[in-house]
Amino acid sequence: MISDFFQSKKPWSPYKDMILAYYLTPYLSKVCSLGKPVVVVDCFAGPGRFEDGTDGSPLIISKAVHQIAEKGKAVSAIFIEEKRKYFHRLLESVKDYQNICSTRHQNFEVVSREIAGMGRNNTVFVYIDPYGIKPLRFDALAGIYANVARGSSIEVLLNFNASSLVRNGLAALKYAQQDDTEEELDRIMTPADVDAIAGGTYWRGIVTSDIPFSDKEEHCVSEYIGMMKRYFDEVCSYGIKEKYEHTIPKYRLLFGSRHEDAFILMNDAICNARDKFLGKQRVDGYLFDMRANDEIHDPNRLRTAIVDSLTTSMTRKKLIVYAMHRVFAEYKESEYKRMIGSLLRDGSFYSKSGKTRINDYEVLSLKTSFNGRCP
Ligand SMILES: C[S@@+](CC[C@H](N)C(=O)[O-])C[C@H]1O[C@@H](n2cnc3c(N)ncnc32)[C@H](O)[C@@H]1O
Repeated sequence: MISDFFQSKKPWSPYKDMILAYYLTPYLSKVCSLGKPVVVVDCFAGPGRFEDGTDGSPLIISKAVHQIAEKGKAVSAIFIEEKRKYFHRLLESVKDYQNICSTRHQNFEVVSREIAGMGRNNTVFVYIDPYGIKPLRFDALAGIYANVARGSSIEVLLNFNASSLVRNGLAALKYAQQDDTEEELDRIMTPADVDAIAGGTYWRGIVTSDIPFSDKEEHCVSEYIGMMKRYFDEVCSYGIKEKYEHTIPKYRLLFGSRHEDAFILMNDAICNARDKFLGKQRVDGYLFDMRANDEIHDPNRLRTAIVDSLTTSMTRKKLIVYAMHRVFAEYKESEYKRMIGSLLRDGSFYSKSGKTRINDYEVLSLKTSFNGRCP
């Protein structure tokens, strides 16, 4: 399967690429004004361009970086690829962007210490898109994440194949499994190998429990997110599915950041990518999104998420972030703002100023009297 990986994109790959592209442009515009140089690191770059001519992540990143660098901003990209044949193709793919990018013919684990160090003087966005889970030792990733706690601005977008974690975990513990997938386990890992990737032993109880495979996948993801939350204030997960009726995502995109603004940007990037795909679905007959069209735009679901999140007085920004965690990637930030406006107008919410046209820093409450404290 992997030998022809770069001939043409898998049907679900453009969704992931679009999320990356939709996120990078507003992200780069925003963080470039913070004063520090910005570096985008593509840790598993591949050849840059697929054989059918479509852009791989290095070209998607180069184009976004180039657009911002043209405005005189200090922004660059680093591409890491360990396989010689892909590295040579990568050099050719990004040759027009030599002024803003550098390439490394190296192994991610070797470069991970250097990436961790970059966070001290740069704002860093790390894109991690391996074939499977094998190169993802949690301690190498944690070495990068740990700098967030030390004040560095590091964000990560990680393609995490939690189904592969479950399958490899079952194989490592010598449990029989129904193989209903084309994915092969190319080498049986030991339980210690899986521990190193998962960042702990929690997966053992999950994969051997008597629950459906889809629940095992979900529980492993939520434990893994818990590990990431030790480093990032904001962590979110979005499952990329091949077809609407599938219950198990092909893989998860996990995003970690210390900034609420970045979390909101990622929410909107996924919404935009999804809308594009729903449009494409009508043309191609493919359905990539998890939910039906009407469910996505159900205003009652958004209203409930917002009302249930206002448990104490808080700013509009905090309320949006809390509610967004409940219904991540379903509604854009602008829809939250409109809904909060209508909750103010119909008397369900109160603003400290008494106004209904408010900004992100206005404090909101369910009661007319404010206790003055807000998170
Ligand atoms: C899924 S592909 C990346 C696709 C790419 N992100 C894109 O969208 O075009 C993974 C790539 O990582 C490379 N790779 C695998 N293990 C690696 C490692 N430990 N360090 C660096 N590159 C690695 C593979 O050779 C392959 O080209």
